[in-house]
Amino acid sequence: MYTTRILPVPDPDSLGRFRPLPAPSSTTISSSPQSVLDHWDAAESAPGLEALVTAADHIRTTDVPVGFPTETVYGLGADATRTDAVRGIFSVKGRPSDNPLIVHVCDLDMLRGLLGDGKNLPDIYRPLVERFWPGPLTILLPVPSSDSSDAAGAPKWTLAPEVTAGLPTFGARLPASPLTRTLIRLADAPLAGPSANASTRPSPTTAQHVVDDLNGRIEVVLDGGACGVGVESTVVDGLCDPPVILRPGGISLAELRTVPGWERVERAYDDVAQGGNRSKGVAEKKEEEELKPRAPGMKYKHYSPKARVVLYEGWRAVNSSTLSQADLVADIGSAGQQAGTVGVVRTSTWPALEGLEKRSAGTTNGNITSAESNGDGAVTYNLEEYTLPFGTAVLELDLGRDLSSIAHGLFSALRDLDARGADVILIEGIDDRGDDMAAAVMNRLRKAASEVR
Ligand code: TXA
Ligand code: MG
Repeated sequence: MYTTRILPVPDPDSLGRFRPLPAPSSTTISSSPQSVLDHWDAAESAPGLEALVTAADHIRTTDVPVGFPTETVYGLGADATRTDAVRGIFSVKGRPSDNPLIVHVCDLDMLRGLLGDGKNLPDIYRPLVERFWPGPLTILLPVPSSDSSDAAGAPKWTLAPEVTAGLPTFGARLPASPLTRTLIRLADAPLAGPSANASTRPSPTTAQHVVDDLNGRIEVVLDGGACGVGVESTVVDGLCDPPVILRPGGISLAELRTVPGWERVERAYDDVAQGGNRSKGVAEKKEEEELKPRAPGMKYKHYSPKARVVLYEGWRAVNSSTLSQADLVADIGSAGQQAGTVGVVRTSTWPALEGLEKRSAGTTNGNITSAESNGDGAVTYNLEEYTLPFGTAVLELDLGRDLSSIAHGLFSALRDLDARGADVILIEGIDDRGDDMAAAVMNRLRKAASEVR
C-alpha cells in the first residue's frame, strides 16, 4: 500500500512550447519540410513544474505508474520501453494483458525516435496528423523491427512487448494537453497510458476520480483540473484500405472525412445506432455482422458504475415524441420499486422533474457551457434531489443540451451518482445516427448499460 498524493499543476499553459527542428530530420515524418509539432521544449520554471519533475522521476526510476491528466481523460502512465514498469500498469488497473496500451509522445521528434531514423510516417497519416495533432486522435503504426542491422538506423526507443500485447501494431498519440507533453518530455521516454480507472469502471476525468479507484495502489496523481473533452481519443487504423475507426472518440467521423485519403473512412466497432426509422437492407445487415471489434479493449465490460444503468436510445425521442414528465415519473417509480435510489441523467429532451417534492436544496454548480473548462478541479452540472409520492428518492442530473457538455460530464455523472448511492440510473441517450461525437458518447453508454430501451 502506498500513500497516494495529488500534486496540483495550476497553470498548464505556461509549461512550454513547440519548436520546429531544423531540416533534414523533420522531413521524414511530416508532409511539410518543417512541422510546428517537431519538438516540445519544457519551460524552465513554471508553477507546478516541481510536481511534474516528481512525477517524471517516478516514471524514470520506479515501476509504479503515475496518474496524469490529458485533454480526454486521466491516464495511468509508465515508461513504455521498460517491461516491469508497463506490467505495473496492468497490475494496478487489473487490466487483461491482451489489451494493448496507447503510447503517448510529446512531439514528432519522439515519434521519430520510436520509428527509427529514416522511417517515414505512412503517407496516409501525414495530413491527419497535421490536422488533428496535438489532440484526441490515436493512430496505429507498425511496431518497428528491433533488427539493428537495418541500414536506416535503429530506433532510439524500443517498446516493451507488453505494450502491444503481441500485436504487430502500436497506437501512437500526441496529446493536446501541455501538461501531458511536459511530463513526457521530462520523463524522456514515450509514455504507455491507458485510462486511469480500475478495469471496468468509468474513465476518470478528475484527479479525485483516479484516487477514488486507485488509492493506495499508486503514489502520485498530477492534478490538471477536469478534462476538457471527457471521452477518450478516437483510435484509427490507416494501414488498411479503406481506413477504419476502431474506437469512436474526441475526433468525429465527419471531421476525419474532411482529410485527404480519409474520405471513405469506415466504422469498425460494434455498436452502430440501433434503428430508428431506417429499414435495414440485406447489405446493411451483413455490414453490421462484419463489424467485429478490432481494438481488443472494445470487447471487455467497460465504463460501468456500480449502479445498474438503463439507457434510453436517443433516436427514439427524435422519431417519436419525447417522454412526458408523467411517463418519466412512472419509469422512475417502477425502477424505484426494485431499487432504493434512482438516478436520472437528462440530456437533450427529457423534461425536468421540477414540481415534484424536493428532498433538499439542489446542489447547483452551474451549467457547463464549454468543452474547454480544463483547469477546474471538478466537473460541474446541475443536480437536484426529489422524493416521489410513494417514497422513491431521485437524484436528477442535467448534463446540458450540447454535445461537448454531455461528453465532458458523462463519466463524472456516472461516478457522482454512484457516490451518492444511486442503485439504478436511467439515462437519456442522444441521437448518434449522424457522424458527430455523439457516436463516442453512445458507444460508452451502450457498454455501461445493463438494459437498453
Ligand atoms: O484518450 C485516450 O486515448 C486515453 C488517454 C489516457 O490518452 N487512453 C485510453 O487508453 O483510452 P485505453 O487503454 O483505456 O484504451 C485504448 C484503446 C483500447 O480499446 C485498446 O484495445 C486500443 O485502444 N488499442 C491500443 N493499441 C492498439 C492496437 N495496437 N491495435 C488495436 N487497438 C489498440
Ligand atoms: Mg480505458
